[in-house]
This record gives sequence, structure tokens and C-alpha cells, in this order.
Amino acid sequence: MRTETPVAVKLADYTPYPFDIEHVDLAFDLDPDTTRVTATLKVSRKGKGSAPLVLDGEALKLVSIEIDGRALTPSDYALTDHDLTLPDVPDTFELRTQVEIAPSKNTALSGLYMSGGRFCSQCESVGFRRITYYPDRPDVMSRYFVTITADKAACPIMLSNGTPGEVTDAGNGRHMATWDDPHKKPSYLFALCAGDYDVYRDSFTTMSGKRIDLAIHVDKGDAPRAAWAMDSLKRSMTWDEGTYGREYDLGVFNIVAVRDFNFGAMENKGLNVFNSAYVLADEDSATDADFEAIESIVAHEYFHNWTGNRITCRDWFQLCLKEGLTVFRDQNFSADMRSRPVQRIKDVIRLRARQFAEDAGPLAHPVRPANYGAIDNLYTATVYEKGAELIGMLRRMIGPDAYRKGMDLYFDRHDGQAVTIEDFYACFAEVTGKDFGPFLVWYAQAGTPQVTVEESWNDAAGELTIRLAQATPATPGQPTKQPVPIPLELALLDGKGGTDAWMTVLDTAETTITRKADGGRPLLSVNRDFSAPIRVERDLTRDQRLALVVAETDPFNQWEGVQTLVTEEILKLSEGSQAKPDSDLVAAVAEAIRNASGDPAFAALLTRLPEVGELFLERTPADPVALHSGRKRLQAALAATLAPTIATTLAAPSPTPYRPSAEQAGVRALRGAYIHLLGASDDADAPQTLLSLYRNATNMTERLAAMRALTMKGPSAERDEALADFEQSWKHNPIVMDKWFAVQAGQGTAATVAELASRPDFDLKNPNRVRAVVGVFSTANLAAFHAPDGSGYRAVEDIILKADAANPALAARLLAAFEQWRMLEPRAGAAAKATLQRLQDAKLSPNSADIVGRALG
Ligand code: TRP
Ligand code: ZN
Repeated sequence: MRTETPVAVKLADYTPYPFDIEHVDLAFDLDPDTTRVTATLKVSRKGKGSAPLVLDGEALKLVSIEIDGRALTPSDYALTDHDLTLPDVPDTFELRTQVEIAPSKNTALSGLYMSGGRFCSQCESVGFRRITYYPDRPDVMSRYFVTITADKAACPIMLSNGTPGEVTDAGNGRHMATWDDPHKKPSYLFALCAGDYDVYRDSFTTMSGKRIDLAIHVDKGDAPRAAWAMDSLKRSMTWDEGTYGREYDLGVFNIVAVRDFNFGAMENKGLNVFNSAYVLADEDSATDADFEAIESIVAHEYFHNWTGNRITCRDWFQLCLKEGLTVFRDQNFSADMRSRPVQRIKDVIRLRARQFAEDAGPLAHPVRPANYGAIDNLYTATVYEKGAELIGMLRRMIGPDAYRKGMDLYFDRHDGQAVTIEDFYACFAEVTGKDFGPFLVWYAQAGTPQVTVEESWNDAAGELTIRLAQATPATPGQPTKQPVPIPLELALLDGKGGTDAWMTVLDTAETTITRKADGGRPLLSVNRDFSAPIRVERDLTRDQRLALVVAETDPFNQWEGVQTLVTEEILKLSEGSQAKPDSDLVAAVAEAIRNASGDPAFAALLTRLPEVGELFLERTPADPVALHSGRKRLQAALAATLAPTIATTLAAPSPTPYRPSAEQAGVRALRGAYIHLLGASDDADAPQTLLSLYRNATNMTERLAAMRALTMKGPSAERDEALADFEQSWKHNPIVMDKWFAVQAGQGTAATVAELASRPDFDLKNPNRVRAVVGVFSTANLAAFHAPDGSGYRAVEDIILKADAANPALAARLLAAFEQWRMLEPRAGAAAKATLQRLQDAKLSPNSADIVGRALG
């Protein structure tokens, strides 16, 4: 059977909803198999007209429907599998519907479902329609009053948005809770959680002196592991007050951790729901990267309270309005909590690995697309990460004061509204007097702009002339591109620490700048701090690049210079299997790493070699096996050159007592980077050294690094011992076991995937576990995934098909790994294409059909 790809929704087709929903009263009678939902909506027509009332609804069993107390008969309405239409309704009325839903059978994790025996909801983007009939679109904002009735023993705690009322007895061993949310909200921010939890409590006093009760709800026995998330939440609340003047607006703030979740977390009003992997942490079970991720995701969801909830999106095309802006906010929070340059480098690594790749392939789309097939597939690196870069460029161009003024105006003017990107930029136009029309092209145009830099030195005049040309490659549906305004931070470096820095906005295809320099020809530093999300093309020799790294005074560009050098070297090595790494280059990189040991987090980043996937962008057709081999040889050479430094660093003890602080994390990051290099080294003693590092590790960061380094070396007794020990120690903790699965999927072959997937603890219904195996294999183990014989594809094809039947959003995301097939060397490319075609002929969900259809183009 051939699947049909979903029909596109178009931005240009937007029309306002013809009714207001002034008030929503929701009554839940909870039961895992049959939950009854009674919804009472106060509806009024906007203006005059005779439009029918159309409500979204999916997988609902309609039990009764009445208007103003009068029961309707089937001839009064039309019901399809996705909506309910009432052709003839008064101008103001009360609509009451009763539906039945089955949370225990909801494996899509959208709507109301069960996780770990508890009730949990996920409504963004279109899950509310799986709970009740409703205009499930973000521009319909309403006041919600919620009643939850449930079994006392199974659900001692019953949560929803807003302010809790009294819990009263409901007879038959059941009880009833009420929740009143005073803030108008769209349906995607509704949430309900009920079950038996352990609760970690604290409080926060806001800048105006209001006391907020904070609570994190977790699995039984996990409460102590919520301490870091709580600490992160309080720091986020303080930061948003100090940085944006934003105060929290309810008396309670609840977080619930669930094991089965399609995303990182969700910003429901007053009731954030988190993937438990981003809540639970302690020094035994979590790595520094986990602590860092928790801090940033807690902040992200909290920041949505203003950028997303108080002011939301008019329609889903505007998704970047809340996501790009909120990512920008959480990145700056992390930069303030930790190191700004290190944070910037990590953000750029992520952007390049995920977003640049997306922009270069068949799934490329603008930050604000003009149409979409399946809304779940719009939660992309482009909307989130590139969306955040656009806000960063805005701030850079107008300066921090005007940025803050514009944000203040935005909060003031649009509070309680569902708005567009144009509304957002109108606030900045007003405070600066500038026209942001040209800048909005960034939102409409897909593809990563490329800027070519040429320089010429006039010795007599003491002037450097810089020619900058921009071009954006064609992307699907956009064959020709316009220039975009590119804020470019530049500097002339004299090599003695002297820096003449400035910013230029490139707003035409070509720009020429002439700059005076005393004291002879300077070195040119461009796109400092990664001021724009572009690719920079410069024709420099290796020695010129080395000189630039030495002279560089911008930490981002220092790191970038080393990345460019090692990238060129890996590309060279990948061309001949016998080629040896250039020893001068390796020595220079090792020297840069040693010189940076005063800032170990930065030094750790200097040891990092670009991932195989990033190298795809530099070399098409890409041969993942050759790239992987070249990368490994360079890593081994670096390990050999740094051997004495590695040995002394790792012989020193790790910091104790353990704290998740940025400072300690930096020390462990460099130790972890050295452990990683040992995994790549040709030293025959490395497995023994690594096993003893594994055994003696005092924290998860180093224990996991040692286990991963051992698996890098392929089969060995030491590797097996570490893996067996880890499994034995952690088999009862699924979050930690996900790491065990991921380490093996990230290093092994197709056979490893088959083996992992056949284990009884591989659960197709648990997204974290599926991602730990299939997601990691297909995105972080490209030499095996893109094996020329197609074995990597066969290993995941079946799993993805099975996952698709249960959870389309999850499967579609995994399928995106196939998008790169056109960039690959011919054998892998043909095998990937054949897999996509087989999948297209199978019965796929609309979400997955959307990805496969676009990937095939
Ligand atoms: N709004 C969420 C965030 O970025 C994203 C999210 C959570 C989501 N769950 C989802 C998106 C389910 C789509 C489907 O913070
Ligand atoms: Zn978000």
C-alpha cells in the first residue's frame, strides 16, 4: 500500500477563527481505559456572519452534545474523523460535549496518555484535539477551569494549570481537584498530570515580593535527584527578572517528570512537563553534560512563560517567534551561568551539526516556512537554532539597550495576544526607527549564506582592502535567493595582541571595505564570535591559517581557526588510506591545547575534531567510511603527541567533593577529552589504562568517558568488563541505561544495533530508549549507518516501521537521518534511496510520509 503525503497547510491561507471561546470548563473523570471528558465552552461569534462552528477532534468517542442545555441529535452536526461541524449556531451560546478517550491505548504520546502508570498530557501542537472537541489553534485563547476526578489510591496528586482549589471527596474511593487558570491561553498549553509522585518542594520570592510555591514531581524514590533542576529553576527565575524584567505570574509553579516523552520538555502554563532525563541528576548517575542540559532546558521552559505563553503564536508558521527567541534567551542564561565563549562555541557546534546539515539537504526550509505538511515535523533545528541566531543578529545590530527597549515594548503591547513575526519586529522598528523589512528575508529564505572573503594589502597607503561577496545556495522550492543583511564582526590583528575591531552589515551581494593599519600588513579576523550563521570561504594556506590562530584575540575564532585546520587535514587524510597526518599541524594543535590549559573547558573544545556529519558539508559526494578513517588517524596522532600531557593530567585526582559547577565541569571536560583521545590512541596499554580509569572514576562524567573510549577501540576483554559492570550497576535506572545503549550504538555496527534492539529492555514505546539506539546510530555513527552494503539502513528500517505504528512523531524524527542520501558516495547513496523507496511503499503515518516524501524530493 502506498502512503499519501499530507496536504500542505499554507501561511497565506490564514483566516481568524470566527468565534471567541470566552471560557472553558473541563471535567475529567480519569480512568486509564475510559476517561470521560466533559467540556463546557462559552462561545460567541466575532462580529456578524453565519459561519459554522468547526471544532477539531481526533480519536474521540462522542457521548453527548448539547447547546444551552438542549441535547443535539446527529442531524444537528457533522462528524468526521478529524472534526465536528455545527452548521447552525446562535451568536452566543454554551456548548457542552462529553467524550470518551483511552489514555492507556495512546502510544503516540500526544493528548492524554499513561507513562509509568500515571496520567500525563502533551498538547503542543495538536494534542488537545485528542482530549476534547475544540478549536485547537494557538490564536484561540481562553480562560480554563478544570476539574479532575480520580482514584484516591492511584492518583493522590492531581495537577493542571493555574491555581489549585480544595481537593474534595467524590465517593467510591475517588476524589476531586479543581484548577483555575486566570491567564488566557491557547489549547496547546493545557496540561493535566495525575498519579502517585514523590515531590521535591521549594519556594521563590519574586522581585515584587510574591512568594511562589515550587514543586517537582518525580517517580517514587527520585526526589533527591530533582535538587539540581530546582536550583536551575530558581536561578532562571532570578535571571529573567534581572535580564528581561519578567516576573512569574502565578502562586504555584509545578514540574512533572515523565519517562515517556517525545521531546525534551513542555512549557504548559504553570505545569511544565519534562522528559525525566532532563530533570533527574546526581553525582553518581549524571554527567556534567546532563547537569548542563537540565539547567538549560529548565530555563528554556521557564522562559516560555513570557515568550510563548503570555505572548503566543498566531499560527504554527510563527513557531520561531516563541522557539527561536526562547532558545536565544536560554543560551544567554547558560552563558551567564558558565563561560560565554565556551557556550558560544557549543551553540555553534550544535547549529552546524544539525541546522547547517538540514539547510543543505532536501528538508531545508525557512525559519518561518510558507507551508508545511505535518506540523510535528516543524520542530526543527532551523526553527529553533537558526531562529535563535536571527534574534542574536538583531541584538547585535541594534545593540543591547535598544534590544531591551524593543523587548519591553513587545511584552507591553502584546501581552495576552497571539502574534506574528511582523508584530515582533514592529516593536524594534518603533524603538530604533529602523526598517526591518530587509532583515525579514532571513525568515523567508532557506539555506546557509556563504560569504567569500578576499583581501589585498596596499603597502604604500597602509590599507587593507576587503572584498566580501555573499551568496545563498538554492534549496527545494527556492531556486534563486536574495542577499540578506549580515552583521559581520571583523578585526585587524597586529600579531602582538593589538586588535582593531568593528562591525559591518553586509546588505548587498558585494561589499568592499578599506581599512587603515599602521605597523604593516595585519591579519584579518572575520565573523568573530560567529556574529552571523554563515559559511565563510577564504582561500588561505595552512601557514596563513596557523598564523591567524596564533594572532587571534577572539576566543571563538581561535577555536574556529583550529577547527578549520583540522577539517582540512581530515579531508586530505580521507583521500588516501595510507596518508599520515602532517606532524607540524598536529604539533601546532597540541601546542594550542597545552597553552589553553588555564581554561580547561576551552582546551577541551580545542581537542575536538569535527564529526563525520559536519565533514559532509565540505566534501560531496561524501564517503563516511573514508572520512571516519581519516578522522581517526588524526585523533591517534594527536593522542600520541599529547601522550605525556594526557598521562600527567589523568594521573592527578579529579576534583572532590563533586560539584556540578562550571569550574569543576571544565576540569572534567578536559580530563574527559583526554580519555577520549586515549580511546583513539594506538598505544597498546590504552585498554588497561582506560579500564582502570573506568574502575577508579569518582563521577559519571569520567566513568562514561572511559567506557565510551573502550568501546571506540572495538572488541576487547576490557571493554566487555566495563560494559558488564555498568549494566550490573545501573540496570534498574533507565536514564543511566540509555547511556549504556547509546555508547554501543554510537560505536558499533549494524550487528550491534540488532543485538541491542533484541534485548528485553529495548522498549519500542519509550522514545528515549529508541533514540539511544536508532537515533544515536543514525546520527553519531555515520560510517556504520551509511555502510556501503546498506547493512546500517537495514538494521534500523524495521525498528522505525514498528515505532511508526505506535508513535509517528518519534519515527518521523528518526527518518530524517536518511535525508542526506544525495550527498553520499554512490553505493551508500543508492542503498539509502532504495530504503526510502521501500518505506514510501509501506504503510507510513502522515508524519513519516511527509519526511520520506520530501527526502526523496
Ligand atoms: N514547546 C516545546 C519546547 O520547545 C517543544 C515540545 C515539547 C513539543 N513537546 C512537544 C513539540 C511535542 C512538538 C510535539 O520547549
Ligand atoms: Zn521551546
